[in-house]
Amino acid sequence: MTIATETKVEMKYLTKQPGYEIMPHPQHKRMYHIQLDNQLLQQFFAGCKDVSEQVLQYTPYARQVLAYQFRELFGQSFMQNIRDILNERETGGFTIGVQGQTEETEEFVKFATALTHLIGIPNFDAMTGTFYARFTVKDTDNSDSYLRQAYRLFTLHTDGTFVDEPTDWLLMMKMDEKNAKGGESRLLHLDDWEDLDKFSKHPIASVKITYKAPPSKNVQQTVERTTFYEINNKPCICFIDQFAYPETIDEAMYLKEMSESLENSPATHALKLPVGDLVMLNNTFWMHGRAAFEKHPELHRELMRQRGYFARV
Ligand SMILES: [Fe+2]
Repeated sequence: MTIATETKVEMKYLTKQPGYEIMPHPQHKRMYHIQLDNQLLQQFFAGCKDVSEQVLQYTPYARQVLAYQFRELFGQSFMQNIRDILNERETGGFTIGVQGQTEETEEFVKFATALTHLIGIPNFDAMTGTFYARFTVKDTDNSDSYLRQAYRLFTLHTDGTFVDEPTDWLLMMKMDEKNAKGGESRLLHLDDWEDLDKFSKHPIASVKITYKAPPSKNVQQTVERTTFYEINNKPCICFIDQFAYPETIDEAMYLKEMSESLENSPATHALKLPVGDLVMLNNTFWMHGRAAFEKHPELHRELMRQRGYFARV
């Protein structure tokens, strides 16, 4: 007999403060949604209106100045709460947005940059040569990875598989969207996956797999990573099907079966993200992917990503 076990998630960080409110996410039991005070948001954008994207690209400390300004407005407790949420195994994710207070994508970049620098430091994104990447999905594409191929499912994976630095967290922000049906972010928290034990305790789980990036990523190095590893005694995962180069047939079959199990998991959730909203996730125990878009000749969607490591101070 199968007993359906619906995990009850304790929401420890629900709070209502003068500048913000942390509430349960309406679409996912393991995420929070954060609502900000519109007046304070306006003040944030007014306070950084002279900072251009170029300044942010050229001057690393300008990014942290944005985080400082954000913290001055929304409080030390805001920073502590989002750090705690991203570190917490039971949840590890939240959404937040500009709430219609701006439609300028340059301001979206500043908003996201303030948030990531409250959490830690973004890694260098070799695809763009700076700390973030904005990328477009259109009707036609001739790229060398699934990232910009609209009409196929982008399978569940973690980021940073082929770089030699920790990728603790990930931010994805919806910058623009026209004629886009489908294409939702697909998300899976490892603790909701029925086959976690089967694959994380498998002998191949701790075998090092080689990861290599395709040319568009501008990363020449190859790295070796185990598929599962532990943080605080809990299994974490490192996997993306496209860039893994297993040595043996057994390893290949293990990865193939694992990917199929992930794809078929009923716990995989398609998240609807409005333009101007972003999602931040712990990249060690959340997997993400993208649903296929419905065909449209004028399809246009732009996303921004930042991913990096947790602050160590
Ligand atoms: Fe990704």
